[in-house]
Amino acid sequence: MKIQRFYVCLYFYLMFPATIIGQWWAVGSPLVMDANKICRKNRKLTGKQRSICRREKEIVQEAVMGAKLAIAECQYQFQNRRWNCTTARKSFTRILARDTRETAFVYAITAAGVVYTVTKACSRGSLSLCACDNNVRDIASDGEWEWGGCHDDVDFGYLKSKEFMDSRKRKKTGDLTSKIRLHNNEAGRRAIREHMTRDCKCHGLSGTCALKTCWRRMPTFREVGYRLKDKFDGAYKVTISNDGQSVVTEDVTIKPPSKDDLLYTEQSPNFCKPRKKYGSLGTQGRLCNPDSLGIDGCSLMCCNRGSVQTEITVHENCKCKFKWCCQVTCKTCTSIKMISRCK
Ligand SMILES: *[C@@H]1O[C@H](CO)[C@@H](O)[C@H](O)[C@H]1NC(C)=O
Repeated sequence: MKIQRFYVCLYFYLMFPATIIGQWWAVGSPLVMDANKICRKNRKLTGKQRSICRREKEIVQEAVMGAKLAIAECQYQFQNRRWNCTTARKSFTRILARDTRETAFVYAITAAGVVYTVTKACSRGSLSLCACDNNVRDIASDGEWEWGGCHDDVDFGYLKSKEFMDSRKRKKTGDLTSKIRLHNNEAGRRAIREHMTRDCKCHGLSGTCALKTCWRRMPTFREVGYRLKDKFDGAYKVTISNDGQSVVTEDVTIKPPSKDDLLYTEQSPNFCKPRKKYGSLGTQGRLCNPDSLGIDGCSLMCCNRGSVQTEITVHENCKCKFKWCCQVTCKTCTSIKMISRCK
């Protein structure tokens, strides 16, 4: 009973974090679209996308969910940074049109999101085109355990993400921007496919684990987010080679990027002030942490313009009581907090 109670409390804690709900987590997105709407934009779609719309609508539906998942993760990863992955139209569309680190991250995580949701849908059995992957049994196990259960069919998700996301109009794949887009999409997909892990379950009389079966699963999407965030921090600035054929780093003394790295060609703005052209909204009004010297701290976040402190009233769930079984009753506690916002 104690254990269960612990989980119920944990659940509550996760559901109602002590932060100001809606501030950090708001996800409003132009990607809030459904498959029908996307597929109706016939003129904007490539031939390949159109045929997926016609024959594999369920995949498009999952792709939309994947994009939403990706944006939510992007906002989580960047919540305390000047660029916070906002989906305000005037910012988001500019970011997607440029070629900075931020652009690279958004493309990569979106391609990864599509791999993730399509693959998960296969495992759930909710798509007619795919199911659990049965080929895994052929990969040797080490004798301590056996393959069993539902293996995530990441190759299917990978393929569908590639088909849908890499599709280009007018075979425009030769120029630098297209090359980089395709590279970053691939890096995003690899952040899942190259990091598959294993979950196992014991069978046999309680506690004996006489037989252990394992199945292949994708990393959690949070892990994928952190992995790509690392790639964002170490992204490579590239240019086109003299013969116009390949993508090369500007600094030829550093080791060349791998397929897992993110690439960009344009220096990012500092995101301090609104700059329409670059999709920067500036940081005026952003929350900052007066006690931090990091990027979330008021001096860096506000670009030394200073910040204003205000008092806010926070309502939180507290003094939660667990009643067997299974009810939780909480009181609402009210407290006053100080917050700082950039001038
Ligand atoms: C992101 O930043 C913009 C301005 O830079 C702000 O309007 C918006 O509320 C922020 N979003 C989140 C979720 O903090």
